[in-house]
Amino acid sequence: MDLFDKLAGRASPLGEFTSGGYGYYTFPKLEGPLGPEMKFNGKDVIVWSINDYLGIGNNEEVRKIDTEATSKYSLSAPMGARLMTGNSTEHEALERELADFVHKPEALLLNYGYQGIMSVIHALVDRNDFLIYDELSHACIVDGKQLAMSETAVFKHNDIEGLERQLQRATSRAKENSSILVVTEGVFGMTGDLGKLREIVALKEKYNFRLLVDDAHGFGTLGHDGSGAGTELGCQDGIDIYFGTFAKAVALIGAFVATEPRVKEFLKANTRSQIFAKSLPLPIVETARKRIKMIRANPQWREKLWENSMKLREGLKEIGYNVLPSESPVTPVLTEGSTELCTTIMRELREKHGIFVSGVAYPVVPRGMVLIRLIPTASHTDEHIRKTLDAFEMIKPIALQHSDSELNVPV
Ligand SMILES: Cc1ncc(COP(=O)(O)O)c(C=O)c1O
Repeated sequence: MDLFDKLAGRASPLGEFTSGGYGYYTFPKLEGPLGPEMKFNGKDVIVWSINDYLGIGNNEEVRKIDTEATSKYSLSAPMGARLMTGNSTEHEALERELADFVHKPEALLLNYGYQGIMSVIHALVDRNDFLIYDELSHACIVDGKQLAMSETAVFKHNDIEGLERQLQRATSRAKENSSILVVTEGVFGMTGDLGKLREIVALKEKYNFRLLVDDAHGFGTLGHDGSGAGTELGCQDGIDIYFGTFAKAVALIGAFVATEPRVKEFLKANTRSQIFAKSLPLPIVETARKRIKMIRANPQWREKLWENSMKLREGLKEIGYNVLPSESPVTPVLTEGSTELCTTIMRELREKHGIFVSGVAYPVVPRGMVLIRLIPTASHTDEHIRKTLDAFEMIKPIALQHSDSELNVPV
């Protein structure tokens, strides 16, 4: 059979939404300057779906920096992978600044977080090793597992006893040259809860393993200085490889891992997706350096983000919604119903109230559940929050029609 003919019969995980919901539920176009007020299908909407946590994506100073950096360097330079011709003094300076920010000796830039972390996992463990990760880990970790030749095991979300059982099992089966890598997240992006990093680090007293933390959502938003979930939980030292991306709080593209020098040296020569790919363009590196400086110098952005997150969350709870006990700005509202309810809520909010939210239903969450996820940012105003809460109040008869407000199903 022709390969392309066969593709039509292969179900996508998004099912009918890939084509039926195209442009609305999938691949929607948010237009106009990036921020809490954008246009969707020509209508003004208040946006709660973008990870520009600190609201710097459309900051005037940032836009000026972007323009100047692009005209200084061109978007083309440098050409080639870093290993060959794509390295620069600026790339190296950004790495030193990132390491300093997250309190690690060294950092290694990655062109994309997703590919980068996959390759890091692939490079770190081989067929003699064990890879153990949280079941709610992001797709890039799951895909990293597919590449790794090691034996893999999953522990239930944040279940430290489950992790310990896997550590015992791996330890008892280990050969002389076997090692263990545990992978979890700083902030779980769908549910907003933090990884139990302190408890995992404490297990190092009993078991010999290394810990990699994907802190995509915590980098820039958590910790007294924005250095992430490890700092927030007081155990950054116990994280052996810290991963952060620029795709959220830095509102850019690119990512990094921060670790000890010998690991960086190894990764520089072994992360295939970085070795065989063009390096980050210089204007991206330059603006990343300046944005990170600004993030460090403006703690009030983080404070505002938290203030907005609390106002939104408490407001939703007062109206009667079941907001999952998130420990980060991610605000997940859980209700009971079908995929149809999920699309109805999204449509009602967008069409009747000018509120743009994203929702997920089965198979992302268990059958019968609907999760509406709101992402507050530092640039949302009290007025945005008030209008949004009013809208959620008005759609209550639809959104909570089957719901028992005590519902608290782990997602
Ligand atoms: C938890 C998590 N890890 C990794 C990534 C991938 O990062 P990037 O967008 O830089 O490829 C994302 C999404 O951006 C994420 O949410």
